[in-house]
Amino acid sequence: MASAFAFDMRTLLSVVFWFCIGMHQWEWKTHAQESTLSSVKEVKLSDIVVVVLSQSHPYHQKRAELFRDHFEKQLKGLAEKDRPDLLLTHEVWPEMNGAWTIFPLAAPLAKLYGNKRWIIFCEEDTRMDVQRLPSILQQHDDIDEPFLGRGLTDAQSTIIHHYASYPPHFAYPDFTAGMALSLPLIKRLAVYFTDGSGQKIQFSIDPKHELAKYLWDNLDVRLEPVCEFCGTPTSKAKDCDCVAWQPTPFPTHCGPPIGKSELFVAVKTCSKFHEDRVPVVQNTWGKDAQLIEYYSDVENTSIPTVDLGVPNTESGHCGKTRAIIHNIARKRELASLEWLLIADDDTIINLELLRSLLSCYKSDEPVFLGERYGYAVAAGYGYNYITGGGGMVFNRAAVDLVANEFSCPSVDSPDDMILGMFFTSRGLANTHSRYFHQARPYDYSPDFLSTQIPVSFHKHWNCDPYEVYKQLVAAKLPQLSSADRHEEL
Ligand SMILES: *[C@@H]1O[C@H](CO)[C@@H](O)[C@H](O)[C@H]1NC(C)=O
Repeated sequence: MASAFAFDMRTLLSVVFWFCIGMHQWEWKTHAQESTLSSVKEVKLSDIVVVVLSQSHPYHQKRAELFRDHFEKQLKGLAEKDRPDLLLTHEVWPEMNGAWTIFPLAAPLAKLYGNKRWIIFCEEDTRMDVQRLPSILQQHDDIDEPFLGRGLTDAQSTIIHHYASYPPHFAYPDFTAGMALSLPLIKRLAVYFTDGSGQKIQFSIDPKHELAKYLWDNLDVRLEPVCEFCGTPTSKAKDCDCVAWQPTPFPTHCGPPIGKSELFVAVKTCSKFHEDRVPVVQNTWGKDAQLIEYYSDVENTSIPTVDLGVPNTESGHCGKTRAIIHNIARKRELASLEWLLIADDDTIINLELLRSLLSCYKSDEPVFLGERYGYAVAAGYGYNYITGGGGMVFNRAAVDLVANEFSCPSVDSPDDMILGMFFTSRGLANTHSRYFHQARPYDYSPDFLSTQIPVSFHKHWNCDPYEVYKQLVAAKLPQLSSADRHEEL
């Protein structure tokens, strides 16, 4: 009896339960139908503007032009009025130092493209399935001010995000995977930007995180992770068809690596670190350098170090870096030298990959290369610089220019920033390469790192530099498929 009653109760409860679910689904369906009806306006290719965050170095220009070819090929036969717009930032805004942070682009884009519906941002190496963009965007058109992209998250609190304590699921986009902002959001970003809050952004370090944080904090907008914005096509989520992706984990299309004798390595150290840091360099990547010198404030013949006669400073090393470059420019036997790497004694770098990368950057113009940071560029003025810890690379023309014309406001000014200012003042670019890293591997989103082969990391703090080096050199260069190779040529 008791069990029959229980059975009846269960039946009754489940009837009530399914009835409620049914009602709910019915209500939800009507609601969904209404909302599709209200936003029935279909997204068309001509509603879209694609912005490539490109750079002016000839190699990057060439990459950007390859993107344009890839883009145009997919639009053959379309009438002008039916096409999406394509902008390369180095062409449209050559004077804008902070285009890579997105912020200063908002106002001009809102003004020029106010009648469009979507702006897609990507990098030169991104590839996309242009014809499928509208249908992907359409799926997210019912959100108020959509902000779509590949959702990166931090595994731990990190210095490059100012140890921001955001909810663990806080997601930020990956520019190389493509990212979409709706025009209403661009317009609102432009307004907030000109109202002065944008002026508060001093340092630009990781623009993708800084943008997502700004939109979250100030506009209450969250990134909607969309699986079609992919890392590499092989790392994509199951059953997800990439609409934009990152095909190249490392450039292998620039020809053979530069020779060991073409690269001089200068390691900045000081007496305090002769014992713990210098041996790490000597036992790891230093072994792979044919020309390497350790520059210090005291002579130590067992390393050996070169005493530059510049006292060690706690905060910045402008005096030391300037003296290093002078020293190298004066060396007669180095007159035929092509490249100079200045690294810290706690930089961890794969020189084999660096030599391979540098074959892309040959130029008669001064080249200053590494990981780009910015000062006040998000606010629309300011300058970029190559952050020192990940390694600063100069070509011959840049070494000569610095040796002849560069001076430090004081010996303890920050060398990387003052150099950045100097190059900017000469109308020269601080060229960014995404393979250099100012922090430790653990400071980057694992998904972000999974789509590239890093060249450098920095700092021994709370990590084993030998382990980091082992990981760096374990990476194997990708073999290009014949289709990729065809495109690269
Ligand atoms: C010189 O360098 C060696 C090896 O790095 C270190 O063991 C030694 O203490 C240093 N000597 C001085 C005087 O700094």
